[in-house]
Amino acid sequence: MKCKRALESERRTYFHHAIFVSRFHQLPKLSSSPSLEVQNNSPGNKEGEVMAGSESAGALLKPTATRPLRRVKSLQEMPGPNTLCNLYEFFWKDGFGRIHEIQVQLSWLFNKLFTPRLLKPFLSPPPHKTLLNHRVNMVAQVLRAEGRAPQRANMESWQEYRDLRGRATGLISAEGEQWLKMRSVLRQKILKPKDVAVFSGGVNEVITDLIKRIHTLRSQEDDRETVTNVNNLFFKYSMEGVATILYECRLGCLENNVPLQTVEYIEALELMFSMFKTTMYAGAIPKWLRPLIPKPWREFCRSWDGLFKFSQIHVDNKLKAIQSQLDQGKEVNGGLLTFLLVSKELTLEEIYANMTEMLLAGVDTTSFTLSWATYLLAKHPEVQQRVYEEIVNKLGRDQVPVADDVPKMPLIRAVLKETLRLYPVLPGNGRVTQKDLIVGGYLIPKGTQLALCHYTTSYSEENFPMADEFRPERWLRKDTLDRVDNFGSIPFGYGIRSCIGKRIAELEIHLALIQLLQNFEIKISSKTEPVHAKTHGLLTPGNSINVRFSDRK
Ligand code: HEM
Repeated sequence: MKCKRALESERRTYFHHAIFVSRFHQLPKLSSSPSLEVQNNSPGNKEGEVMAGSESAGALLKPTATRPLRRVKSLQEMPGPNTLCNLYEFFWKDGFGRIHEIQVQLSWLFNKLFTPRLLKPFLSPPPHKTLLNHRVNMVAQVLRAEGRAPQRANMESWQEYRDLRGRATGLISAEGEQWLKMRSVLRQKILKPKDVAVFSGGVNEVITDLIKRIHTLRSQEDDRETVTNVNNLFFKYSMEGVATILYECRLGCLENNVPLQTVEYIEALELMFSMFKTTMYAGAIPKWLRPLIPKPWREFCRSWDGLFKFSQIHVDNKLKAIQSQLDQGKEVNGGLLTFLLVSKELTLEEIYANMTEMLLAGVDTTSFTLSWATYLLAKHPEVQQRVYEEIVNKLGRDQVPVADDVPKMPLIRAVLKETLRLYPVLPGNGRVTQKDLIVGGYLIPKGTQLALCHYTTSYSEENFPMADEFRPERWLRKDTLDRVDNFGSIPFGYGIRSCIGKRIAELEIHLALIQLLQNFEIKISSKTEPVHAKTHGLLTPGNSINVRFSDRK
């Protein structure tokens, strides 16, 4: 991770790039959306310009007599790095792995808002503008302006795969009324802390296996303490944990011999992420180019086939089990999947699709966060000691925690928040604007793809003093300068389209961290090297995190 001083020096380099900013874009058309009222009757007003009385208004603009009118700028006036710079940065300097750093660099260079001229405008039809938005008040403005079914991004390639194979969309890929319907069904069982509290027992069984696995792994090392690449371990834990909740069954990920079906699923998931660049191109490359460059689309489909196949097997197994219970005249009880299958509020295809997309969304996100939390605790023994004392005081050394115990331990919750501030698994998010907006003095027409720079706002000194430091306490004290309640760090997103698995992830991470600390002191291993973040679809550890799990005396 680069500190600001280092970034300052790069700022100059970027400045030289920026002077090549392309000015050859077409004038954006004013949308006919009725949501934006603009006045265009001021003397001297040039054609195509509108006047705004307030920058922060965002939607409704009515100049008043007391406020001077300010010219609202159009998109092509917005600064940003040009296509050549982007090509150089992304293809020559492996920018795909450093998207989070580039986000910070560009935010420093271009105040408020900027628009990169990417390859996409040349290759695909609108909406193609991607504006990057990194000021916290602007992020808030965009998110607060969203309608009843917000759109995150253009999901054309996901939709195309589903059409091709006759598959339904899940929560991530669905839009509009379809999304609203599914969200209203799924939210009933997993959105609130009390809904997921019932899964504590199942998650704790998985944690027992996680701890056994740590004993096995460290016994294979010379020092009998080190576990190399903890992310492999936490990946298996997260997959097992989320499957326990979603499929209501165990997969055997933490066994010595992982079942073949599960191995095949992991391969499909790895393909999805290892092919990240390729699958990104799958969406970016227009259909007519596919005969010339077939691999990205082929791999994209192959990986989805594997993910859907796995979910279908587990959903069908559950369906058979329910049917057999019904045949025997027994009462059917269960968790999320049972509810979905029995209530029939979603079709079977919709259940397959949602189970597939939720598993995809829930495994790496949770495991990377646990890996980073472990790394940070190992690097900050004094913080770890305070967390341990809190656990011992509120719960005891040996008592197994349940969801209801977590609110008694604010520091463990603060550790998770601070970990996600420093390493937000999704370093940026997106919204396609659903009405015309004025943001930062620019008119953003309806249908524009906006990228929200959450990584940058998380590292802003304005939002979080001493932003580079791991200071979980900042989340405990309301009287500090840290603006912890604002939009500076929103790792699970915001509003009605925010992460539906947030409470599941929190449960899995809080309970695992508590039990890990009850059992072990987590220490830096001699094999530990400084770990830098890398963007690989998600924000991942760039090299392996190796830590020692020493038995608590
Ligand atoms: C640390 C773990 C996790 C993080 C940081 C995370 C983060 C996010 C973010 C930032 C979004 C986009 C929200 C927005 O656009 O406002 C999202 C969406 C989503 N997440 Fe998570 N997530 C995590 C774990 C999970 C888990 C465990 C599941 C499922 C069990 C899950 C399922 C989903 C789904 C289905 C969506 C799409 C929601 C929709 O479009 O309605 N996530 N997540």
